[in-house]
Amino acid sequence: MTTVEITPTDVDFFTDPDVAAKAEPYFDHMLANHPVFREPKYGVVIVTGYEEALQVYHQPDVYSSINRTGGPVVDLPFEVVGDDISELLEQHRSFFPQNDQIVTFDPPMHADHRSILMGLITPKRLKENEQFLKDTADRFLDEIIPRGKADYIWDYCKGYTVLAVADLLGVPVEDHPMLLDLLASEPGPTLGNLELQANHHSSLERLYEYFVARIEERRADPQDDVLTGMALATFPDGTLPEPIEVARIASNLFAAGQETTVQLMGITLQRIAEDAKLQERLRQDFSLIPKFIEETLRIEAPIKGSFRLVKRPTELGGLELAPGTVVMLLHGASGRDARVFENPAEFDAERPNARQHLAFGRGIHTCPGAPLARAEAVFSIQRILERTTAITIDEWHHGTADAREWNLIRSYKFRGHTNLYLRYTPAEA
Ligand code: HEM
Repeated sequence: MTTVEITPTDVDFFTDPDVAAKAEPYFDHMLANHPVFREPKYGVVIVTGYEEALQVYHQPDVYSSINRTGGPVVDLPFEVVGDDISELLEQHRSFFPQNDQIVTFDPPMHADHRSILMGLITPKRLKENEQFLKDTADRFLDEIIPRGKADYIWDYCKGYTVLAVADLLGVPVEDHPMLLDLLASEPGPTLGNLELQANHHSSLERLYEYFVARIEERRADPQDDVLTGMALATFPDGTLPEPIEVARIASNLFAAGQETTVQLMGITLQRIAEDAKLQERLRQDFSLIPKFIEETLRIEAPIKGSFRLVKRPTELGGLELAPGTVVMLLHGASGRDARVFENPAEFDAERPNARQHLAFGRGIHTCPGAPLARAEAVFSIQRILERTTAITIDEWHHGTADAREWNLIRSYKFRGHTNLYLRYTPAEA
């Protein structure tokens, strides 16, 4: 890895284009010197350390998720008085971005919605979804394998990830094209681009309408299907949620599960195409694929970071944090913490403890879609390897090995490719 000299005081993690494109030198510097660091420009407390991140994840009573999808600057709509701003935050919830999404909820409201959410992603549903994932991989590959080249982000991953969630939720096949039009044909939200976020939100509004209609239909006329299970799900105290409350949770699965999984698949495919030895090893032993995916998540987490807001005075990594302090957990950095992972900068597709990474978060908000994301990536990679004999980076688009040019998401929250052009030889049928 190239070593870039970093002086924390002169690097703005949130706007520096080099750090946005390649954050590892920044992560490594912080881990070695300041696993909890109050950066000077915005006063955000940046957490790279693994144990320190766990302390934050496991104290939702101290660290609110209300600003989870916001940015480094939070202009609180109230004066911080007293030692606990929990109630003030709830009173002003509507002020915060994406405040209707579960990932921004705090206890006790979070627990009620999480129980509905977990009813949608049961082990039984995930098992039933597997055959669909395998068949859908083949449907996309039937189109692109004969061509010998493709932009995997747009020609495979975007559509595949939408249909994976659609089938999990029991959306009828005849509605799949509508969802592909709505979700797979537009860019996902990238930070610093408010217009895209607004577009994304309008797609969500349309999804809300779609699911509210399905829930109302199924409540009026229950059937033996997954949507009826969704429509009749109750909160833990037995009350029936409003249709819009369930519709938001279902729709959030698309919002949270599409771009993230697209990026995981993009990053893994890039690695396979770049590293002929690794590709050969995976071809010879498909049982290595799940471990390879965990190691990719450890070293290149698709979500770089998540925000939290301090509710009560606390201490973290030797720093005193006052109510109203913004904290950022860098999921990608924690996977490189040498106190947990030996030789953390080295990619080891068989690392025994790779799965301890924090790419899916931890605690009450831990990613409920992780088993689906893993299954999507495992089935896709296995089928792509089975149906090709050699996968390489398309140098016409990305340059030669010594001068690659990637089309990367340049954001402090997400990592990955906006396009990934690959070439391959179709395997004999
Ligand atoms: C590689 C793919 C994925 C990654 C890296 C990822 C990462 C994460 C992370 C880090 C969190 C926790 C955020 C926090 O604590 O602030 C989270 C939460 C969440 N994820 Fe994922 N995710 C992925 C795929 C998915 C999929 C496929 C789905 C849906 C099927 C999904 C649905 C959600 C939801 C609904 C939450 C919020 C849960 C809550 O607040 O209780 N994710 N994800």
